[in-house]
Amino acid sequence: MKLILGIETSCDETSVALTRPNGTRVHQVTASQVEIHRPFRGVVPEIAARQHLALLPVIYESLMEKAGYDLKDVDLIAVTHGPGLVAALLVGVAFARGLAVASQTSLVGVNHLEGHLFSPFLGKKVPEEFLGLVVSGSHASIYQVRRDQIRRLNMNRDDAPGEAFDKVARLLKLPYPGGPEIDRLSASGDENAYPFKMPRMSDGSLDFSFSGIKSAVSRHVRRESARLFDPSGTLSSRGADLAASFQEAVVEHLMDRVTVYSREFPMPDLAVSGGVAANSRLREKLSEFGDREGVRIHYPENDVTMDNASMIAFRGAMVLREGRLPDDPFELDADPRLGQR
Ligand code: KG4
Ligand code: ZN
Repeated sequence: MKLILGIETSCDETSVALTRPNGTRVHQVTASQVEIHRPFRGVVPEIAARQHLALLPVIYESLMEKAGYDLKDVDLIAVTHGPGLVAALLVGVAFARGLAVASQTSLVGVNHLEGHLFSPFLGKKVPEEFLGLVVSGSHASIYQVRRDQIRRLNMNRDDAPGEAFDKVARLLKLPYPGGPEIDRLSASGDENAYPFKMPRMSDGSLDFSFSGIKSAVSRHVRRESARLFDPSGTLSSRGADLAASFQEAVVEHLMDRVTVYSREFPMPDLAVSGGVAANSRLREKLSEFGDREGVRIHYPENDVTMDNASMIAFRGAMVLREGRLPDDPFELDADPRLGQR
């Protein structure tokens, strides 16, 4: 296999890429819709789908032109078919199916979260065994990976961590997406100013839960709005304290699960991915953890941290190597809850 075309449209990034089977990138074009969704302080699914529809053919042409390749040079088309927003996924899947049928190229549907899971290893050797933490705007899970076996150890019961960052940012009148804003503001805040109770499941499960932390922020905002915002409506230094304390609670909750699972399944490598993997406090805590426990922490490169097509191409080639057969281009469907049941 020489070249893989990756296509990603599961949320608010339209991305296409050409990679080698080991994930080495030939070229990637990503169009972010952040500016379009910003006025709504969150992703509007219908707008996302319409944007994908308008952008995908254009960025596909631009990818092929800039990379200097043609569809006949492509051996495999890999497309995200879930989980994600159904209307958004359908655009990528329909486009990929059309290309596959027209050019008689093999097609494979890729799980978006598995794309993130392996994204730290693009162009590198994938460790035989590792733990993976995937933290994004719609999911949070820890995985145990052993060769071609992927076992999901936990998942988020309610809000995903990125979603909690975005919702809290909205409460604090900060722009979308909230994660980078809260990350930046927290540097000037006191993370111990507001104590948060750590989520605890009544059934003792080690799933993630971020909605309690988010609701606690909402209560503080209701009670002391006058202290949190200046008269002009911008966040005060007390507001920055609340943002920093919220971020600290989210990071502490993530680190608690990472610590428990890495003691239960000791492995020398931990791969951390998804949009929230960019969080600087999380990285600080993971680095302390890695030094203390002798665990190597792997992150994706910058341009494959957010949603991107290179990780989808890489994972697509991998699943075929592991023995999965290509999908029927007349049958492959979008599945918004793929792997989540
Ligand atoms: O993985 P991703 O690009 O898209 C999904 O598949 O959901 O993740 C986007 C999420 C957003 O919720 C955004 O607020 C969050 O990642 N994010 C961050 C940071 N950068 C992006 N959250 C916390 N700290 C950051 N620095
Ligand atoms: Zn994602």
